[in-house]
Amino acid sequence: MELHKYKDAEALSEAVAGWIVDIIADTLQQHPRFTIALSGGSTPERLHKLLAAAPYKEQIDWSKLHIFWGDERAVPFQDSRNNAKMAYDTLLNFVPVPAAQIHIMRTDISPEQSAIEYEKILHQYFGETGPSFDLVLLGMGDDGHTLSLFPGTAVVHEEKVWTTSFFLKAQDMYRITLTRPIVNRAARIAFLTTGAKKAHALKEVLNGEYNPDLYPSQTIRPQAGELHWFVDDAAAAELA
Ligand code: 6PG
Repeated sequence: MELHKYKDAEALSEAVAGWIVDIIADTLQQHPRFTIALSGGSTPERLHKLLAAAPYKEQIDWSKLHIFWGDERAVPFQDSRNNAKMAYDTLLNFVPVPAAQIHIMRTDISPEQSAIEYEKILHQYFGETGPSFDLVLLGMGDDGHTLSLFPGTAVVHEEKVWTTSFFLKAQDMYRITLTRPIVNRAARIAFLTTGAKKAHALKEVLNGEYNPDLYPSQTIRPQAGELHWFVDDAAAAELA
């Protein structure tokens, strides 16, 4: 695991934008495409806006990108809580990724059906073994959740399917989410974590005892890929 620490969310977002530009260029020298899973939440918004503008935008071959999501809130696309909408509003409306290469988790069908469809799409891209995504971007909630792997939910222990859905009582909504089996096969996973409210969970996730039911982010451990934590000083405040 590599920990990257920055003074604030702005410095972190700029560093991650530069890092992403570099790994896309490196990957495209050896492979014809770059597959990336975006995260929801508010932390990536600034990163998206940076990538969508100079000087980063021009340094990325957007025609080779294939876009996925780590998880989705089962609300209509027009709803401001929809993760795909956030990514379009901050990034995808401004960059020339071919529409057929953007794979949203649909919310105009039942969550169960949406997860099944997503699983099929993923199987068109990735084999049963070996690397999956070139990059998975993740956020961590104040409670240590990531993706829609919330503390105390069964999905934290999923070992078979790559995408699933379930009703999240605490938020009174269905969620659709990638699971550990496919995420942990990514070539690179990067958590973006900022703000004092996350300091306690960050300490527990990185330095505490392994307790995935309490801190699901602990289950994100790439089998063969890289794990990066990009954090700001406020989030890192309780790290030794
Ligand atoms: C979601 C997420 C979720 C998110 C974290 C962090 O749909 O809610 O994808 O896992 O990444 O909750 O969210 P913030 O960046 O808003 O803190």
